[in-house]
Amino acid sequence: MSVFQITLTTIDAQQVQFDCASDEDIISAAERQHIILPQQCRTGACGFCTASTVSGEFELKNYNVAALSDEQRANQQTLLCKTYPRSALEVHAAYPYGSIQFGEIPHATFTIVSKTMVTDNVLHLVLTQSDDMDNLLSANIVAGQYMQLMSPDGATVRAYSLACPSNWEGRLEFYIQLWPDGEFSQFLRQASEGDAVIARGPQGQFALSELGLKPRWFIGGGTGIAPLLAMLRQLAEFGDPLPARLLVGARHAPLLFAHEQYDELKQQLADFEYQLCLSQPPEDWSGHHGSVVQALNEALQNGLTEMPEFYLCGSERLVNGLLTVLDEAGVDRSLVFFERFAG
Ligand code: FES
Repeated sequence: MSVFQITLTTIDAQQVQFDCASDEDIISAAERQHIILPQQCRTGACGFCTASTVSGEFELKNYNVAALSDEQRANQQTLLCKTYPRSALEVHAAYPYGSIQFGEIPHATFTIVSKTMVTDNVLHLVLTQSDDMDNLLSANIVAGQYMQLMSPDGATVRAYSLACPSNWEGRLEFYIQLWPDGEFSQFLRQASEGDAVIARGPQGQFALSELGLKPRWFIGGGTGIAPLLAMLRQLAEFGDPLPARLLVGARHAPLLFAHEQYDELKQQLADFEYQLCLSQPPEDWSGHHGSVVQALNEALQNGLTEMPEFYLCGSERLVNGLLTVLDEAGVDRSLVFFERFAG
């Protein structure tokens, strides 16, 4: 194993330097040295950590072409969360120095309060903090962020979006897709209520716009609804009066979940509607017949009284489909906020 120096220059011409071993990615190496670079999925799926390489050799591993096109790659761009150095490396990031955080990511031990399968492969997981109670991680959540969850021995770790906003109960809530061969999925399947889990965070940049004086549309599928639910719950806690719409997509009805949360939000928010969209609905389906992408397209074609902000979350295929529809309708990208993950 070799160790190389990474020099990262921000868009406002500031620099940070740190070491990176040949077997670690640049985001993880920076984090080990208490430099928290802007990131979202850390799986090479969202494109959030895209940077330009100016000099040096590197290997880019297991990324999704939706996050970095062949053209970007040919232009020496890379995804820092999947970049492994093979020499000293100089990179230019597309964010300002102020977006970088310094220090250790807070972590604490949590106890599993409940774990409930809400579809064949989606787990609803609730945790409460059980140590370092003077420093409640849940109090610092910005709705839309994620936590890294780790087994107590530190052997397996995965990042998951939170379905809850900040709270003083020390409570964390997730909707987690369990994969047949996923290491952390395996850990969660075997874990019992009362068992310990380490959580690190909160982290991530997916959040409500601070300008927020427009209606808001939240559109997602699968476990991508988790951060959208967190944002909607945050708006409910703030007593936000602006119109909010939620479009949730799935292929079949049994893949939908969290209906009770949507109904609760209808009671709590002043102006909230949700629409469930099935691309393969049963005959008696009363929701939208067609994918969530089609539902968005139809809404835009029919015309909206006021162009809202759009918050999108789900698989890269889903989010890319939604982005295409928004782009084709000429929606300004400054109104669009999204997070996508591989799958
Ligand atoms: S954080 Fe690197 S691609 Fe998402």
